[in-house]
Amino acid sequence: MVKICCIGAGYVGGPTMAVIALNCPAIEVAVVDISVSRISAWNGDQLPIYEPGLDEVVKQCRGRNLFFSTDVEKHVSEADIIFVSVNTPTKTRGLGAGKAADLTYWESAARMIADVSKSNKIVVEKSTVPVKTAEAIERILTHNSKGIKYQILSNPEFLAEGTAIQDLFNPDRVLIGGRETPEGLKATQALRDVYAHWVPQDRIITTNLWSAELSKLAANAFLAQRISSVNAMSALCEATGADVSQVSHAVGKDSRIGPKFLNASVGFGGSCFQKDILNLVYICECNGLPEVANYWKQVIKVNDYQKNRFVNRVVSSMFNTVSGKKIAILGFAFKKDTGDTRETPAIDVCKGLLGDKAQLSIYDPQVTEDQIQRDLTMNKFDWDHPIHLQPMSPTTVKQVSVAWDAYAAAKDAHALCILTEWDEFKTLDYRRIFDNMQKPAFVFDGRNVVNIEMLREIGFIVYSIGKPLDPWLKNMPAVA
Ligand code: NAI
Repeated sequence: MVKICCIGAGYVGGPTMAVIALNCPAIEVAVVDISVSRISAWNGDQLPIYEPGLDEVVKQCRGRNLFFSTDVEKHVSEADIIFVSVNTPTKTRGLGAGKAADLTYWESAARMIADVSKSNKIVVEKSTVPVKTAEAIERILTHNSKGIKYQILSNPEFLAEGTAIQDLFNPDRVLIGGRETPEGLKATQALRDVYAHWVPQDRIITTNLWSAELSKLAANAFLAQRISSVNAMSALCEATGADVSQVSHAVGKDSRIGPKFLNASVGFGGSCFQKDILNLVYICECNGLPEVANYWKQVIKVNDYQKNRFVNRVVSSMFNTVSGKKIAILGFAFKKDTGDTRETPAIDVCKGLLGDKAQLSIYDPQVTEDQIQRDLTMNKFDWDHPIHLQPMSPTTVKQVSVAWDAYAAAKDAHALCILTEWDEFKTLDYRRIFDNMQKPAFVFDGRNVVNIEMLREIGFIVYSIGKPLDPWLKNMPAVA
């Protein structure tokens, strides 16, 4: 029986391995992690991550051919194929601080593999890593090999949180990069055979190692660039009276451009886009390509601009001060259908409003109070470390409370800010919300989910990203 071990039971390792186990009943899959709490959650009723459809998949194969364990060394030594899906944070200190990937966890996983292995292994990079990481890992493994042969493959993951199970069952492509030697090709074939249990052959692409590593960074950079492009347009739409949804629709009808990923919003978030672009920028700089580096840097700058612009709109619309005013924040996760808050735009927006001394009442259907407090007190980039190594939040932010539902959050508030596009925010009883708010009552829709006309009829002053401005907002000071 082929044995697979995955190091790292996070948003990628957990769902990916569950789908492999479900589709390959003859393969034994063990997912291991240094975080005891994460592994016990995977073995319990409340999984550590929220992802539609994940519970069903895990329930069908857990204990059959899918196991979650903290016994990292045992499962690594027994495995034929080892996936490594650990954190790859942005460095906060030293060379490349603020840009380069910190490969501490990857390196320690590689050294551990070298220590405990007694048979030949295929080691698969699942984490997103800088180009040429495979080469570094290969060196660590071969210099400590004790005669054991390792083949390194790059198999970056393209799933999107919120649709991970769907994406894994029906991927646009599976990408496998490997050495073009007979041993490398054999290892590539072995991994191809795993995916071929459910992925059509023509969707499994093979490349050399570096192309696979770079393709992942490039794909995230292109996706984030689309969002920054439409967000840049949204600012121009507000200035000119055009409607960004109409512009996106018209632009997306061009088959060369396509309609996906063209929604204007308060900005992109998530653990990958910013981190991977910073990484790309760093690689370009190291390779003497400052123009290319600056080009991609601009995608992040526009994203930061969009978040600032939103905060400025809120403050300037409300008589240039939100000090002491209750503001309801609807949605904290970086997108709908996930509880993940890593790099969510809500953090920057909330911090911006807190900087102007607002009182925030936050509601998100999937994010806990503890997580919100941690996010609002944590330093930039500290989130991307195994949970037990993250700094504890020393204080709680007193101007922040967490509500049970949108109605409680909005009660007596001066304004509502919608920061995640949860479906339930489309169908709230806005009349009831309006009746219980201070007047004038404002809605700032950072995801373009509300029906603007209906809300204006109720009496709200509505700001929606990239839409023709409410007459109220036109008379307020211009925003930067
Ligand atoms: P995560 O933080 O959810 O999971 C990483 C896990 O690795 C943690 O549970 C941590 O405790 C564990 N870990 C760290 N060092 C370890 C070690 N030496 N031994 C055993 N376990 C260890 O991270 P996530 O989101 O799963 O991401 C993992 C990688 O996949 C990152 O490189 C990320 O950029 C990439 N990726 C993430 C996607 C996403 O949507 N979250 C999508 C595609 C790629």
